[in-house]
Amino acid sequence: MKADKIRPASLPSLLPVIGFLKPYKLRLVAASLALLFTAGATLSIGRGLQVLIDQGFAGDISDLAGAVSLLVAIAAAIAVGTFTRFYLVSWLGERVSADLRKAVFDNLVHLHPGFFELNRSGEIMSRLTTDTTLLQTIIGSSFSMALRSSLTLVGALVMMFITNLKLSLIIAVGVPLVLLPILFFGRRVRRLSNQSQDSIASVGSYAGEVIQHIRVVQSYTQEQFESAAFSREVERAFAIARRRIWQRSLLIGGAILLVFVGMAGMLWEGGQDVISGSMSGGELGAFVFYAIMVGSGVATVSEVWGELQRAAGAAERLIELLNTRSLIDDPGPRDLPHQLERPELRLDGITFCYPTRPGQAALQDFSLPIEAGKSLALVGPSGAGKSTVFELLQRFYDPQQGRVLLNGVDIRELGLQQLRSHIALVPQQPALFTGDVRYNIAYGRPDASDAEVAAAARAAHADEFIERLPDGYASHLGEQGVRLSGGQRQRIALARAILNNPEILLLDEATSALDTESEFQVQQALHELMQNRTTVIIAHRLSTILHADNIAVLDQGRLVATGTHTELMQSCTLYQRLASLQFRDVEPAQQPTGRDGEPNPTGYPSGESGPCAPG
Ligand SMILES: Nc1ncnc2c1ncn2[C@@H]1O[C@H](COP(=O)(O)OP(=O)(O)OP(=O)(O)O)[C@@H](O)[C@H]1O
Ligand SMILES: [Mg+2]
Repeated sequence: MKADKIRPASLPSLLPVIGFLKPYKLRLVAASLALLFTAGATLSIGRGLQVLIDQGFAGDISDLAGAVSLLVAIAAAIAVGTFTRFYLVSWLGERVSADLRKAVFDNLVHLHPGFFELNRSGEIMSRLTTDTTLLQTIIGSSFSMALRSSLTLVGALVMMFITNLKLSLIIAVGVPLVLLPILFFGRRVRRLSNQSQDSIASVGSYAGEVIQHIRVVQSYTQEQFESAAFSREVERAFAIARRRIWQRSLLIGGAILLVFVGMAGMLWEGGQDVISGSMSGGELGAFVFYAIMVGSGVATVSEVWGELQRAAGAAERLIELLNTRSLIDDPGPRDLPHQLERPELRLDGITFCYPTRPGQAALQDFSLPIEAGKSLALVGPSGAGKSTVFELLQRFYDPQQGRVLLNGVDIRELGLQQLRSHIALVPQQPALFTGDVRYNIAYGRPDASDAEVAAAARAAHADEFIERLPDGYASHLGEQGVRLSGGQRQRIALARAILNNPEILLLDEATSALDTESEFQVQQALHELMQNRTTVIIAHRLSTILHADNIAVLDQGRLVATGTHTELMQSCTLYQRLASLQFRDVEPAQQPTGRDGEPNPTGYPSGESGPCAPG
């Protein structure tokens, strides 16, 4: 994905960033001192030159030695000062951008999930990386360059006027004449180089997409088409680059010509004064030196100005991310007064609209008790609001009306961490992280022992396939667990929930078909997990529903009926329809129940080993 371009903004946007410099006051002071010191030392070179020319060249050898040593001493002082300034300032740039990155991420992970529906992840990532990097270069180099140049600019101006008034006045008129065309061309070059960067980025994203979808490209035999299209992109980038380097070459050539013509004019005027004796050669030398410093100072400041504006744009976007507050307000660490053995949940008179759809209630006048230690199956057509119930139970959103009670306490009065620590969710699409098996199972409890992890895997019926992986529990699963089958991923997600041993279990049953064997394993693990635990399960299979203690039927955000399978088959027409059309395994005869002693539907002795299993 192509990152958004950073628009320039006004400099006050950079102010909040200054707050991040606060902890490093001492370094900041030291850097400023070094800056002042080097600026002063640089300016004194002009005087050194004057001494060298007037006394060193005119006097005897010892005067020359003295003048040269003076210059060497100044140069050494500048070297030390520059080293200190460069190190400290770059350090500050790196440090501040690291701190900003951390602060922004820290804020991001606590934000309400709704935020991420409104903001594209690509853009957030680009803020975390590109914007902070831009700020880092600004603080670490451009800003100090601007400061240093302004300092030397002012200093050199003053020194210039002290050295020779008449020539200074000529320069004051001449510098703009020389600089204006250079600045004008410089702008154009910069605009072209921005364009050229954009076109390189689009070449990159073009290639990225083709590589990502390489199978589609090859299976539709579009390799040549893609090559041709890519080549057009590359050529376009080259054409822009050629215009840029052409302008740039013109700029360099023109600048050299203008600067030296200007200098020649100055030397002509000054030289006449030296000949007539109204000015010494050293004075002229010093003067030329200061004039060059003024010119380059103006050039640097105007160059850096544009960058500062871009940095202000970046800062604005970062600070916006940093200041976004979660809509779910956390009352802080506050738990239930009593230990939760068998928690009971209740949704009470809830009306809820997703923030992005304020007019449309996802749940309406919804009340539902969830009994302690029992399992409740939610069934209903797609879009009925089943997943929304889960979102509210975990407090990813707050309902506009009504409340969710945990053992009689409104969950808004509990600490978010405490509330969520009582709950584990097994989502419809198992979410695995890049890492190994152990890391993924122990995600909720990184301190779990290997034995505990293995026990959880066993309970999830995952241990057999894990042990058959090349590195067992240390096997890497690839990005988002791509190296596992769908059923294996689900069992890893189950093991993660089991390891957390939550008092409340939320299961969103996968709708996608698993092969019979995997399905059987997952089902069996589920039933064991549900025993004596407060469980809510969004069920798509009759076999799951039959194992639930109670069933709630939802439709269009409302509770339609509750009861057992037999009751609902008699009383609820929607349930009958769902049973005949939607439940994936509606023939009870085929049902893999997974209870001990019942036949194993796959015909394989156990685990995953089938006729094709290796070794
Ligand atoms: N993040 C969201 N923002 C806005 N509307 C949403 C969001 N998530 C769900 N909805 C809407 O809320 C309603 C209920 O959705 P929900 O996900 O609870 O349905 P569901 O019963 O879980 O369906 P399914 O069986 O297909 O998973 C739907 O109309 C859906 O379009
Ligand atoms: Mg759903």
